[in-house]
Amino acid sequence: MKGLILSGGAGTRLRPITHTSAKQLVPVANKPILFYGIEDMVEAGITEIGIITGETGAEIRAAVGDGSRWGAEVTYIPQEQPLGLAHCVLIAREFLGDDDFVMYLGDNLLRQGITEFVERFESDRRASFSPTLVGPASAPSAQILLARVPDPQRFGVAELGPDGEVVRLVEKPVEPPSDLALVGVYLFDPSIHEAVAAIAPSPRGELEITDAIQWLIDHGHRVRHEVLEGWWKDTGKLQPLLEGNRLILETLDLDLRGRVDDRSLIDGRVVIEEGAEIVNSTVRGPAIIGERTRVVDSYIGPFTSVYFDCEIVGSEIEHSVVLEQSRIVGIARIADSLIGKQVEVRRSETRPRATRLMVGDHSVVDLA
Ligand code: TTP
Repeated sequence: MKGLILSGGAGTRLRPITHTSAKQLVPVANKPILFYGIEDMVEAGITEIGIITGETGAEIRAAVGDGSRWGAEVTYIPQEQPLGLAHCVLIAREFLGDDDFVMYLGDNLLRQGITEFVERFESDRRASFSPTLVGPASAPSAQILLARVPDPQRFGVAELGPDGEVVRLVEKPVEPPSDLALVGVYLFDPSIHEAVAAIAPSPRGELEITDAIQWLIDHGHRVRHEVLEGWWKDTGKLQPLLEGNRLILETLDLDLRGRVDDRSLIDGRVVIEEGAEIVNSTVRGPAIIGERTRVVDSYIGPFTSVYFDCEIVGSEIEHSVVLEQSRIVGIARIADSLIGKQVEVRRSETRPRATRLMVGDHSVVDLA
């Protein structure tokens, strides 16, 4: 079994962060989102991993390297344009060969990992394999993961038939046939290659994986499904990203490796990474403070991740993610925010008193 992680794409919903960086490298609890996917694969015993990259390919390569850190072997597959999830399978043909594979969307976070999901596909394939059989009783050619969502209009949605099998998949339906959304983890056998070669681009110009899976169903292949029990977040947008950060932070244990002075209070599950310094401040967990970051005369509230080499001075911040080398000085209080790299947010004494901004394209500023 091989792994294919999709780490290209346009990332329009996470602008302006994605104007300069890959959304899959945004840190959640101070670890790039993409690394969670790689770890899930390796834990499931999958070490031959292909990564689809787009415009941010160089940054992804620099962060992931050859995969040896995880005991994996990574092959990079550049995609010239984000032409769809099924297009990623098409261009990975040579890497995938005739092996079964897991396809994993590089911006998805999954509570339960994928080990059991992979095991059940393999055991069902072994149990029902027959070289001549096709149709409902045959070995599954694909397996999809579904989650119940309140707003299925925004997702690929599955319709189940009377016997509980998947009969139809529709991309962002106006009238959803169910509340079962497709989660970004798929399992395929080599029949998917025929499917992705047969389908045409959708009205939005992409080769849709839902169309490819529908092609499998229409051609008599069995598509197995499971309904997810743990949480799952598609972190390609701000709110789910902050929720993913909150959910991962809740799993961390107290770990104080940096320096905390005796005027500071550490409350609850807090991680202070190597070289970080907390001076006359309160950090209320769950929260993580990155390497060499300084927190001075400040309050860091629950569900906050501050990455490395930052400076938080005379400020209050909670339920937020701050990327590397940013400075926040004299601000109370920041909440529900994603702050990019090398950003400076500061209070100024300059007259006239005014809000002076230099923010990138597609930025959002909500003033109190
Ligand atoms: P999406 O989040 O569905 O698409 P996107 O990255 O283009 O984002 P947006 O809609 O905000 O513009 O993609 C899911 C994952 O798959 C994500 O990690 C990017 C990746 N991807 C590719 O690698 N190639 C592609 O052609 C597409 C569409 C997505």
